[in-house]
Amino acid sequence: MIYDILQIGDERLRQIAEEVSRADLPTLQQFIDDLDETRRDAGGVGIAAPQVGVLKRIVSIEVPGGERPTYGVVPDQPTTIIVNPIVVWQSEEQRKGLEGCLSVRGFEGFITRADRVRVEGLDRSGEAVAYDADRLFARALLHEIDHLNGILYIDHLMAHGELRRVAPVPKDDPIWSLRRPI
Ligand code: NI
Repeated sequence: MIYDILQIGDERLRQIAEEVSRADLPTLQQFIDDLDETRRDAGGVGIAAPQVGVLKRIVSIEVPGGERPTYGVVPDQPTTIIVNPIVVWQSEEQRKGLEGCLSVRGFEGFITRADRVRVEGLDRSGEAVAYDADRLFARALLHEIDHLNGILYIDHLMAHGELRRVAPVPKDDPIWSLRRPI
């Protein structure tokens, strides 16, 4: 099932999502599949459960490898589901990178974030997982974890003048994969 993705202005995007208990995970497997399917259908690198109106701490991220604007060549990160993700470390070294968001359609902006992070949480079966990420994967983790705390990337803009409107790119256009919203 593909969900409608909430757009900026919807109050559910501004709420704090609740932690998921291991005991609840079996009942959430179909939701996790649907959340991931919604992300793939929308062409996003990442999505967080609150973006479809479910206030639980679950994210899905998939980074297609290759040359990306402002990141250089990034490695492939296969579909990654993290439940209750927590940033346990981030580098002082930062990177200014281009971001968009499935909940802020039609815009993108440059945001400065830590270039490397370590994130811990659970996988969809409740096993503990940890990820050491850099560049676009690190950014996607920080962006999605922000969603769990009611934060949108535009909140990090240094100046609203840095937000720019982008024309929709058809999914069959070769540049689409380079400009996916996070
Ligand atoms: Ni987003």
